Amino acid sequence: MILQPQIYLAPLQGFTDFHFRDAYQKYFGNVDQYFSPWIKLDGEGKLKNSQIRDIRPENNQGVKLIPQVMCNNSVDFLYLANYLFDLGYEEINWNLGCPHPMITKRGLGSALLKNPEKIISTLDKILPKMQNKLSIKMRLGFENEDESVNLLPLLNNYPLTEIIIHARTAAQMYKGKANTDAFENCIGQSKHKLVYNGDLNSLKMFKELSVRFPQINSWMVGRGLIANPFLGSMIKNDSDKLPQNHKKVFLDFHHHLMESYASHLSGEKHLLIKMISFWEYFSNSFKDAHKAHKRIKKAKTLIAYNEAVKMNLNSGFMDSGQKTVDGRQ
Ligand SMILES: Cc1cc2nc3c(=O)[nH]c(=O)nc-3n(C[C@H](O)[C@H](O)[C@H](O)COP(=O)(O)O)c2cc1C
Repeated sequence: MILQPQIYLAPLQGFTDFHFRDAYQKYFGNVDQYFSPWIKLDGEGKLKNSQIRDIRPENNQGVKLIPQVMCNNSVDFLYLANYLFDLGYEEINWNLGCPHPMITKRGLGSALLKNPEKIISTLDKILPKMQNKLSIKMRLGFENEDESVNLLPLLNNYPLTEIIIHARTAAQMYKGKANTDAFENCIGQSKHKLVYNGDLNSLKMFKELSVRFPQINSWMVGRGLIANPFLGSMIKNDSDKLPQNHKKVFLDFHHHLMESYASHLSGEKHLLIKMISFWEYFSNSFKDAHKAHKRIKKAKTLIAYNEAVKMNLNSGFMDSGQKTVDGRQ
């Protein structure tokens, strides 16, 4: 029996919130698991209201959501895990990948990869007490790939559901190519189910990676799925044919997303800024990505913005085959 590949939408802080996940699931689907952007307790031990809203079950109807936590001590971890369990989340994900200095200088996210003892001692304290299952999302390392090669064997004895590896070091941020050779080394070190993540943005690339890594059946995709929301269906159906009504589907999705934000954001300006931000990725589905993005960024009113969206749709949406997230073919 050939297993269908499992597709996960990667968490992208500022993009894949509940408004986006809901609209995405309604119009495109083909995502087996969604991950929330990380949530974290502040200095007073509280979550931000926006983070609470993002994971409230009533805002996540119809999507399989795994909330992601950013944490480096067992007390906060258990508090968050219990809070999420009480909301109905039977599985949560631990962020060991965030590369941003605001996070890493506090010893969180990818900074923990420099400190495997801390990861292990946290797992020792939390796992016996957690009611939810736990998965990990990590990078290859903070500074270099040896860190994952050293950490993964230490994780083998812990009951994790899976380990998602973004095949870059934190030092790389989001630049350069994902390091598939280093990912291959990780496979040899782990007994856990591994999930590949990094730069997957076309059916062609998926096929290459799935031939190279036959052990991997789950694929986390971020920017590629936002840029080409039909990619999940292309991968699952092994066909890069677009539905005939793809422009309408995209427009309906876009309309739904905009309405959803309109009901939560105050004023035209905020809505405009929010919608324009998505075009950093959407533009890559257009024949001339640079022009499409520029047209959108020029809009100063919602009317002008909607006009720009229509013009983009009429001039080359998904007309030129599959592109990379950088807009290159
Ligand atoms: C703007 C932005 C925000 C991100 N926010 C998160 C986050 O909250 N949690 C996380 O684990 N990864 C986060 N990531 C990393 C992505 O989940 C993913 O690992 C990365 O983009 C590589 O996958 P891709 O090439 O398929 O996009 C973020 C990435 C970007 C570009």
